[in-house]
Amino acid sequence: MNFDLKIYDKVTSTQDVIERSAKSGAPEGIAALAFAQEQGRGRLGRSWVSPAGKNLALSFLLRPHCAPDKAALLGLLTAVTVCETLQELGLTDIGLKWPNDVLASSRKIAGVLSEASLSGGHIDYLIVGIGLNLNTVLEDFPIELRDIVTSYARETGRRADLRATAKSLLNRFEADYDRFATDGADFIIAKWKKLWAHRDCKVAVNKIEGIAKTIDDSGALILEENGRRTRITAGEVKLIDHP
Ligand code: BTN
Repeated sequence: MNFDLKIYDKVTSTQDVIERSAKSGAPEGIAALAFAQEQGRGRLGRSWVSPAGKNLALSFLLRPHCAPDKAALLGLLTAVTVCETLQELGLTDIGLKWPNDVLASSRKIAGVLSEASLSGGHIDYLIVGIGLNLNTVLEDFPIELRDIVTSYARETGRRADLRATAKSLLNRFEADYDRFATDGADFIIAKWKKLWAHRDCKVAVNKIEGIAKTIDDSGALILEENGRRTRITAGEVKLIDHP
């Protein structure tokens, strides 16, 4: 698969841009990078705040041939790709929070939103969106987020080029997406677990508390409490305690 990247000054959401094309039959690989979003969306119905011109807002279209219950793995792969790209840019203290949040120094530096459209029991398309804080300082964010977010510039004192970073993310993703089609998902799960910040930590998700033990072969989070295992497919992880 080869990405075809278009760059926009201002959109409602890069997810909307890709969705319009997806609905009119665009092939997988179209990608949109925007310098500003008026209505950026986050996971779980939240909005995504991204000051104009400073952060990366990128979405792309996939038409994977996997079963719908494996679609989440492509969100995990995207988060791994973001980590690896940031590591290449010199960030060292990087980790993942289930399912798709990327942490730097334990603060959120990037998030991934994946929106699927299913038809007749298969995936018609999947739109994957990446929000990555690159050149922002804390004062660019609303006050209520300043304790929990960070950016590449804040972590390193350097700036990153938005287009170059988008291109390098897409190149990296392309190779692993092709690998997923031929080899299956084991390598995604292995890479994701290596970067996981909360393995064996006590967490709460959707008011269920437990030890974060592993993820299964569909990317669901497995919590354990008093010998009982619970499988979580969506929610927000809250860290309670490190082991
Ligand atoms: C999250 O909640 O952590 C996911 C955030 C995803 C934000 C990105 S920015 C590019 C794309 N366009 C959107 O409206 N959302 C995603």
